[in-house]
Amino acid sequence: MTDNTMVNWGFIGAGGLATGTTAKSLHNSKNGKLYAAAARDANRARSLSPEVAYDSYEKLIQDPNVDAVYISLNNDAHLPWILKSLDAGKHVLCEKPMVMNAGDTVTAYAHAQEKGLLLVEAVWSLWHPRSQRVKELVAGGAIGSPTNYLGTFTFDEVTQGNYRLDPAMGGGALYDVGIYPLHGLVALLAEETEYRVTQASEEKHSERVDLTTKAQFSFEGTNAKGTGAIIASFAMHSSQRLVLKGTHGEISLPGDQAFTSHNQASELTITSNGVTTTESFAAVDPYQLMFENVSDATRGNGGWLPSPWQSIQVAKIVDQVFTLVQQPA
Ligand SMILES: NC(=O)c1ccc[n+]([C@@H]2O[C@H](COP(=O)([O-])OP(=O)(O)OC[C@H]3O[C@@H](n4cnc5c(N)ncnc54)[C@H](OP(=O)(O)O)[C@@H]3O)[C@@H](O)[C@H]2O)c1
Repeated sequence: MTDNTMVNWGFIGAGGLATGTTAKSLHNSKNGKLYAAAARDANRARSLSPEVAYDSYEKLIQDPNVDAVYISLNNDAHLPWILKSLDAGKHVLCEKPMVMNAGDTVTAYAHAQEKGLLLVEAVWSLWHPRSQRVKELVAGGAIGSPTNYLGTFTFDEVTQGNYRLDPAMGGGALYDVGIYPLHGLVALLAEETEYRVTQASEEKHSERVDLTTKAQFSFEGTNAKGTGAIIASFAMHSSQRLVLKGTHGEISLPGDQAFTSHNQASELTITSNGVTTTESFAAVDPYQLMFENVSDATRGNGGWLPSPWQSIQVAKIVDQVFTLVQQPA
């Protein structure tokens, strides 16, 4: 059964991302309405221009007119608000990292399934047409079987006092930016691929959160066997890289925004059996595409969504990295 009415979204949290970007993306979407917003300060919720502003997240999830919620809180608050929102009968789109470990990821998806509701991790780069094209090329065998991966996401601008520097609130570079290059690979390989982290190191900020994490891992599955490396940092110059080599070629994303290309034209370069070509992509807002796809999915109108197993695989790799860096040398 399909339903063509607009989806009423409720925003839980009105922080930097919601106020600077995602509220606008939803306002621009063709099938979703920013019906309600909740923040600890109702004036900040009002600044997103919803129809209804709340000073409490609880009030928002109890509003019967809200169909789906979008959670953009500090990372440690994601799981409790996912579970409460599902219990209140709302579909959930939750910012990355959806939760803090693989066990909680499984718990969250199981709860959504039990309630018959959607739960989606908002890894917005996955909705970019360039990311979809990379998937298509790899699945079609354009570079042969993947053998080597390098994914990096680094920048150096975290404000003192932000939750990103607080371990109790899910801070740290691996959670904040490291998950992008991990999703960048896991999205391309088969569900049953096994990942084994072989080396990991981190540099901490005042012994609190990781400012920089580097990890190396092996992967082996039906369509791939090889090694990969990621770098995530709050303490290096801004750049993002994705390079995937295979038995017959290589794909890379030119420019500095492999994972955050937003409202600007972008390209990918592919070498396949010795021939190198560049493909161009028009400027898009992947957040808007994300809201439109998730809105369609809540109505049973199609809509592309990443699979739960992808989030679970990424969370398992993150767990392995934390285990390795905590072991004495
Ligand atoms: N910034 C980005 O470019 C970006 C991109 C992609 C994903 N994300 C993800 O989006 C989420 C939010 O990021 P952000 O950049 O918007 O963060 P932020 O600007 O620091 O905002 C923090 C959010 O956390 C909430 N919060 C609740 N209790 C808090 C407390 N005690 N202290 C501080 N904040 C508290 C705030 O809620 P109230 O509004 O109620 O005050 C606010 O919505 C994170 O999961 C992040 O990984 C961010």
